Amino acid sequence: MSKINDLMARGTELLGSDYAILCGAMSWVSERHLVSAISNAGGFGVIACGAMTPELLDAEITATKALATRNFGVNLITMHPQLFELIDVCAKHDVGHVVLAGGLPPKGSLEAIKASGAKVICFAPTLAMGKKLIRSGVDALVIEGMEAGGHIGPVSTSVLAQEILPTLADEVPVFVAGGIGRGEAIAAYLEMGASGVQLGTRFVCATESIAHPNFKKAFFRASAREAVASVQIDPRLPVIPVRALKNAGTEAFTAKQREVANKLDKGEVDMMQAQLEIEHYWAGALRRAVIDGDVENGSLMAGQSVGMVSEEESVAAIVASLVQQADAALHARG
Ligand SMILES: Cc1cc2nc3c(=O)[nH]c(=O)nc-3n(C[C@H](O)[C@H](O)[C@H](O)COP(=O)(O)O)c2cc1C
Repeated sequence: MSKINDLMARGTELLGSDYAILCGAMSWVSERHLVSAISNAGGFGVIACGAMTPELLDAEITATKALATRNFGVNLITMHPQLFELIDVCAKHDVGHVVLAGGLPPKGSLEAIKASGAKVICFAPTLAMGKKLIRSGVDALVIEGMEAGGHIGPVSTSVLAQEILPTLADEVPVFVAGGIGRGEAIAAYLEMGASGVQLGTRFVCATESIAHPNFKKAFFRASAREAVASVQIDPRLPVIPVRALKNAGTEAFTAKQREVANKLDKGEVDMMQAQLEIEHYWAGALRRAVIDGDVENGSLMAGQSVGMVSEEESVAAIVASLVQQADAALHARG
């Protein structure tokens, strides 16, 4: 087992976990039960704050602390209007790691997190942005390819890994995300210089995940090619693509974009409000599928690795098989 531990050493040191395997924050899914189960199994769980109010985040952190025996982190979305209040909530609870998602961290946010003593982990969509984030003082980076579930960038994981790891992996720990379903892929990214990995889709159907049984069933049935990226229909309204299983909700999103684009045309909303409305739409649609089980009209956010999810297993079993597969691959290479 020592090879995988050696290759993950900088990641595990940063996270304080046994394995540098993060379960990326997933809105509605990454709550107290899944997050604590991941951390207790030796990985690293991250609460998805999403659109939560500071009061709700406060309650979620308290509840997670009661279940977790190990470290966990909190994911905050940079465009949240109460970002600084949310940072204060994390500080109050001595959260050790804050993951900032959704674009460049606003002025003062990195400093505010670091002042609380927490480590900051940010997403680097390009090499240039990764360098800039390191200069700004981030402690680690996540590079996430377009195979991932949820909001995605335009570049694949394998290309991002080749572009970014050789230059930045020596500077800060880099975690690779997007399309990882098995340990062999983890081994490959570790050998390329990653300090760890982040998975989402692979953990959605864990026994400890509160996702509705209908949501889990949709995952078991789906193949990689059914996890498709949303399409932007109006060039004036830039929407971040979202990867999800195709259903009636996919069409509803097209209608939603038309509605918001019309409001933009009439001057009823500005671009910032238009984009926030789109994001609120996604949060509501995901809730409908994850919590209510409406897998027809809700959003079934899923990455291309969904084809490798075939049964409900405990988090501990998933982590153990990922580690075993990675370790076997590393040893087979000698
Ligand atoms: C259902 C679902 C919801 C997600 N919600 C969020 C989120 O709220 N914030 C975030 O930063 N990433 C979110 N993600 C991305 C995951 O944190 C993770 O980076 C991604 O799933 C990794 O790629 P994979 O799905 O190929 O494993 C979500 C992913 C899924 C599948």
